Amino acid sequence: MRSEIGLIGLGVMGQGLAVNMAIHGHRVSVFNPTPELFDEFMRGRAALYPSIEGAADIRQLVDSLECPRRIMLMIKSGPPVDSVISELVDFLSPGDIIIDAGNSHFKDTIRRTRELAARGLLYLGIGISGGEEGALHGPSIMAGGSEAAWRSVENILSDIAAKAGGTVQCSGYLGPDGSGHFAKMVHNGIEYASMQLVAETYHMMRCFLRMNPEEISDVFRIWNTRRLQSYLIEITSSILAHSDGSTGKPIVDMIKDAAQQKGTGMWSVFAALELGVPVPTIAAAVEARNMSALKEQRERASGILAGPGLSSPVSVAEASRKGQMIEEIEDALYASLVCAYAQGFALLCAASIAYGWNLDSGQIASLWTGGCIIRAAFLNQIREAFDRNRGLCNLLLDEFFAGEVASCQDGWRSTVAAAANGGLPAPAMASALSYYDSYRLQVLPANLIQAQRDYFGAHTYKRIDADGAFHTHWPTGRERPVG
Ligand SMILES: NC(=O)c1ccc[n+]([C@@H]2O[C@H](COP(=O)([O-])OP(=O)(O)OC[C@H]3O[C@@H](n4cnc5c(N)ncnc54)[C@H](OP(=O)(O)O)[C@@H]3O)[C@@H](O)[C@H]2O)c1
Repeated sequence: MRSEIGLIGLGVMGQGLAVNMAIHGHRVSVFNPTPELFDEFMRGRAALYPSIEGAADIRQLVDSLECPRRIMLMIKSGPPVDSVISELVDFLSPGDIIIDAGNSHFKDTIRRTRELAARGLLYLGIGISGGEEGALHGPSIMAGGSEAAWRSVENILSDIAAKAGGTVQCSGYLGPDGSGHFAKMVHNGIEYASMQLVAETYHMMRCFLRMNPEEISDVFRIWNTRRLQSYLIEITSSILAHSDGSTGKPIVDMIKDAAQQKGTGMWSVFAALELGVPVPTIAAAVEARNMSALKEQRERASGILAGPGLSSPVSVAEASRKGQMIEEIEDALYASLVCAYAQGFALLCAASIAYGWNLDSGQIASLWTGGCIIRAAFLNQIREAFDRNRGLCNLLLDEFFAGEVASCQDGWRSTVAAAANGGLPAPAMASALSYYDSYRLQVLPANLIQAQRDYFGAHTYKRIDADGAFHTHWPTGRERPVG
């Protein structure tokens, strides 16, 4: 019997997805460019599942599939995807379906959708989140592209996707061309921001409150039973409780403080800049990783640049009100996370308009409640907020979230101020607070920016009391309407 779907790429994700499909009773043919990985998989994990069939090359993979052929790529994004597609298309017929499930850039997906449509082939760009565990046990799946293609693979992808709380389906069709990969990119942007925010709260407890990793692990464990309940808080608690096998020290103390990245956070920031959407907390998280990577320079600078010092009177005084500070940090983390998610959803909303995708933010929030890295209890409230008002342009304007953030304000401000006074960097948390304050202030100092632009470049400005554009001849102070 022919296979229902083909899978190219047996890396970390591909292997888990193939086994997941087989566990759910689907017949899947697999191929990997490097034979060693292929052989290892076929002789190892795949040997347990007769419904996984190996293919020696792309042609054999295509020949093993029922029609229309459905072929999923789970490979390194960028040129490898174009190269595998160009090999594949020679063996495919109109109506066949290619599914790119890797982290491709949404603009590449828009281009590929168009190119393949011209050959009568259907294309799906799918964002998959959940890492190795998710691929095997149930990821979150964000599909974009041909709706007909989605209908054709929906049963397989729905079966393998996460079901939050055992019932909420964490897979779905979002919209045309690049929308699925855009949503995954924003997911990763929020992931960057959330990880940085959690890391900053850990750093504060460590440096200000002199807590050891195990104590901090307990705090995160308790937070995970409340409104901060989320996958990232859960794994952080677990990480902080781990000891290093060889030294017996906390494992976190043995890991070099230089973060790496694969680029999806940066893509989110680029996309936001292009669309004119402020995402300062996501940007701060990307910048923080860039700063962390300057390890050697930071070591040199620590001996040159003055600061209050972490054993200063500030931190000793703060340590005396430890319980209260932990509560303030919890408030600060929660409010900052709400701002990070608000920025991500605002970016989705702007892209939906700009690219004509008609995205449903409530649906996306729902897909993210299970299987993915940014799953969090408060995504249920985010979904409810968008269900209440589908046109909500910013989560902070929702009554529930406005109230939540307002109730955290005092702790949030004290925490950011303590970090600044104590010389401890909190770039994501500070940027989130600044985002909130910028968004809620009716008047920002952009009036002065406009005056400066007009002064040096005659760029004109608008008045608050008259329509039209104006220019001032600044040496004389004479103002005149323009155009
Ligand atoms: N790991 C995660 O947590 C995660 C989560 C979500 C999405 N993703 C995305 O999923 C995709 C796969 O990730 P992964 O973690 O499974 O990667 P991986 O373990 O590094 O495996 C990479 C796969 O891509 C193939 N590949 C590499 N270069 C290729 C080329 N030039 N032509 C054809 N195939 C090539 C590899 O084949 P060879 O064995 O022959 O090199 C391998 O099958 C990526 O787009 C990644 O961004 C990853």
